[in-house]
Amino acid sequence: MSESEVTVNIDGTDVDVAVGATILDACRAAGIDTPTICYADNLTAVNVCRACVVEVDGSRVLVPSCSRRAEPDMMIHTDSERVRHSRTMVLEFLGSGVDLSQADEIQRWMAHYGADPDRYQVEGVELETMAEEVRVQDRLYVRDYDKCVLCYRCVEACGDDAQHTYAISLAGRGYGTRISTEFDVTLPQSACVYCGNCVAVCPTNALQFTREFELRTAGEWRPEEQTVTRTVCSYCGVGCNLELHVQDNEIVKCTSPDDHSVTMGNLCIKGRFGYQYVNARPDAADR
Ligand code: SF4
Ligand code: SF4
Ligand code: FES
Repeated sequence: MSESEVTVNIDGTDVDVAVGATILDACRAAGIDTPTICYADNLTAVNVCRACVVEVDGSRVLVPSCSRRAEPDMMIHTDSERVRHSRTMVLEFLGSGVDLSQADEIQRWMAHYGADPDRYQVEGVELETMAEEVRVQDRLYVRDYDKCVLCYRCVEACGDDAQHTYAISLAGRGYGTRISTEFDVTLPQSACVYCGNCVAVCPTNALQFTREFELRTAGEWRPEEQTVTRTVCSYCGVGCNLELHVQDNEIVKCTSPDDHSVTMGNLCIKGRFGYQYVNARPDAADR
């Protein structure tokens, strides 16, 4: 081990990671899959979901692996009874109040831990949920806060981590908490510049392309049949990479690879939504 590395022990195995690496980095280096919800590789960790907690010897409480730095000789446990119990309850609490039907990754972890949100159901008592109508305010993307787990990712992407627009933030308290524009104005009235970088980082599809929403509503959303073609945006010289998702010969959404060195998954409105002219046909004039 060099001076630029630290050694930690994870589930009985020593792992060397660079100084400054997180426990999550160390888990990944050890090949240990870890649930994360609020964390994304292209965002600053905000540490709010607690899905990623691990047990560290000497620590009174479980620690969030996404933001706690690895320290020399840490003894880390990722699959203890306490860790499994805590992760399961985090997932169950989310599932009891939020529509996770399109959150594939969270559902995978719920199945892994056997999380059962229904066990919080008390006969005769209606569980409080986010209970929110879908906000369709333009042709570009919709906001369905019934699916929102308040992970802050969109706020980070709109703010310091990517766009520096600060069009959205948290408003309200308890079940009334929502991601909101200033004074809850509609998106077209807000400071939003429609980069769609919030859509790109949302883990639950609470934010999704309007076209995807329309196709899902019609029962016509078929991701297994879609092709994804990587290309370079032609609108300006920055050179952002685009991934065009095509279904039935129509571009249905546009993403950007997180690991691309130029934009790390971020785009502007032209790259993200400016493909719609390609779809213009006499039989689909309003797309
Ligand atoms: S809208 Fe999506 S990204 Fe934003 S807080 Fe909710 S779940 Fe997270
Ligand atoms: S996405 Fe925007 S910034 Fe990137 S190349 Fe296209 S026009 Fe330029
Ligand atoms: S992923 Fe670590 S606290 Fe959310």
